[in-house]
Amino acid sequence: MNASVGVDARLWREDIDGSLAHSEMLAAQGVISETDRDAIHGGLNAVAARIEAGTFEWSIGLEDVHMNIESRLTEAIGLAGGRLHTARSRNDQVATDVRLWLVRRIDALVDALRALQTAFVDLAERDGHAILPGYTHLQRAQPILLAHHLLAYFEMLDRDIGRLRDCRARANWSPLGAAALAGTPFPLDRQATAARLGFSGPMANSLDAVADRDFAVEFTAAAALAMVHLSRLGEELVLWSSQEFSFVTLGDAFATGSSIMPQKKNPDIPELVRGKTGRVFGDLVALLTVLKGLPLAYNKDLQEDKEALFDAADTLLDCVTVLTRLLPACTFNIARMRRACDDGFVTATDVADYLARKQVPFREAHHITGRLVGWCIAEQRTLPSLTLEEFQRFSPVFEADVLQAVTVEASVAARTSEGGTAPDRVRVALLVARARLAEAR
Ligand code: ARG
Repeated sequence: MNASVGVDARLWREDIDGSLAHSEMLAAQGVISETDRDAIHGGLNAVAARIEAGTFEWSIGLEDVHMNIESRLTEAIGLAGGRLHTARSRNDQVATDVRLWLVRRIDALVDALRALQTAFVDLAERDGHAILPGYTHLQRAQPILLAHHLLAYFEMLDRDIGRLRDCRARANWSPLGAAALAGTPFPLDRQATAARLGFSGPMANSLDAVADRDFAVEFTAAAALAMVHLSRLGEELVLWSSQEFSFVTLGDAFATGSSIMPQKKNPDIPELVRGKTGRVFGDLVALLTVLKGLPLAYNKDLQEDKEALFDAADTLLDCVTVLTRLLPACTFNIARMRRACDDGFVTATDVADYLARKQVPFREAHHITGRLVGWCIAEQRTLPSLTLEEFQRFSPVFEADVLQAVTVEASVAARTSEGGTAPDRVRVALLVARARLAEAR
């Protein structure tokens, strides 16, 4: 029950980095000799080499990554190994390791999210001229460019990156030197260890330093929200690849056949991304629940933080990575998307806008258009098929130019407001997205 090494062994690199920084500082402050420091450094590097080579034997009896490494070090170098833990506790040690690990992991995740953003921009450039119905309430609403739809995800991912960066900035403070909870009588230089490990500085309060796991909650909350975005994409890919929509065909590597129904191509990967979102929500609730009601300072409950944190980070990275490969392998059925714009009344708003531009109050224009659409449905007609004479039965304000205004292409081209779907706007939006990616590099 006490052992966590099965989960926390992956912190070994951070644990050794922390010990190198701590022993370096102890020697600089005259707490241990330079001879001991050199022995400790040599021993830690040897341990690191064995872990990397896969020849390090992890022992459950030694509980966690910290005790495993320290006891192997002492076995190898003797008394000097026992001096490493002077002025330190596993409480500040583990908090330091996890923060270091998370900061490094966030950097990898931000890179992965940038690659996914790039995949969206690439796809928007490749097929973005396609026109499809935009939906509200999953009802065909107004025609939009595919590029515009794809760039919506670019924005979501940009906010996800921003949240991870915010979390990184608050995580990147050093607990090292807080010792068990109260600080230590030794003349530590916490600025030096913080700087050597790349932290912004030492944490101000020793109790907070060992008790705080806010950074784990912040990260997992940001990961959960990023997963919401990936899950919405997964859902759209599931819908769009259904026979009912047939807007997209997934690459074979991202779908499977059914073992019994030969006609089927199941969108497994988008479904799994959607499904794995549940794990990350669970991780977030687990962390919040572990922390709730804990008295200061360190409590063993905190050992339960790592499984949830690691799972959230691993799941997010997996999903981002797979989607980055899935997107370029999508084939859009551009003709089918365009045809879906003909069946409904996706340019009905353009009729109302037309009347409103000719000074009919919009509410009245909306009413006239509603009657017109009702008539079309009864007569099985579409808006672009109507003659001017038929339009004028509903309002004398209609003139010949309405015939052009109700075409799907004119509708898209008309939405020129900032952030809108008009091709001229989207062309600029793509350039801006590219520039933002280049700037972030
Ligand atoms: N394995 C422990 C954890 O992950 C390390 C800290 C143990 N501290 C203690 N006082 N028992 O939280």
